[in-house]
Amino acid sequence: MPDQTVPLSYADPPLTDGTVVLRRWAESDIGCVEEASREGRIPEGTTVPENFTVAEGLAWIERQWARADNGTGLSQAVADAGSNEALGAVVLMSRQSGTAEIGYWLIERARGRGLGSRAVALVARWAVSDARLARVEAFVEPVNIASQRVLEKVGFRREGHLRSYLVFNARRADAFIYSLLPSDLT
Ligand SMILES: CC(C)(COP(=O)(O)OP(=O)(O)OC[C@H]1O[C@@H](n2cnc3c(N)ncnc32)[C@H](O)[C@@H]1OP(=O)(O)O)[C@@H](O)C(=O)NCCC(=O)NCCS
Repeated sequence: MPDQTVPLSYADPPLTDGTVVLRRWAESDIGCVEEASREGRIPEGTTVPENFTVAEGLAWIERQWARADNGTGLSQAVADAGSNEALGAVVLMSRQSGTAEIGYWLIERARGRGLGSRAVALVARWAVSDARLARVEAFVEPVNIASQRVLEKVGFRREGHLRSYLVFNARRADAFIYSLLPSDLT
């Protein structure tokens, strides 16, 4: 039976489909963090700093390393497989045994070319196969059609509508809950 009883660690070699590669964050990715900080929806829903400074950006990158180091999950840069430029993030956050929540974002200029779907497919399918998780779950605002399409294309199933579930600084929002199980890959 699939069960994740050890902390998640980076795939070796890194996960790639030839278009995107998922890899450990590097300090040189700070420009990606700066771009992300300018897009309101990213700082609202993540820990990307709203008011970017180099110190805040580097602290964010260090927190991404810490997820794997302290066993609370795995945060990877979504990078162009050709240039290695970081264009976004895909994060697995450990929940109860065998379960992780997935979160993801791309900087605006990288959207609309299928990269989000590729990145989520790579990490979510790896999580319920090689990494032996029993369940990957995602919470998405009903208005976020692009994110729902990403999950549905990867094979996630929508399980329900959670009212007033998401908590942001200045507001709350409903969420659709999705999950991917190992059996969804067949
Ligand atoms: C969600 C996100 C990662 C999607 O990445 P992306 O690379 O642009 O998505 P893709 O190009 O793979 O497109 C996925 C699907 O969404 C659709 N889509 C993309 N943008 C859309 C939009 N603004 N409105 C409606 N559908 C959209 C695409 O057409 C595609 O569906 P299709 O294959 O049926 O045509 C990106 O929009 C993003 O970073 N958003 C801000 C952060 C965010 O919302 N994160 C998720 C939180 S749950």
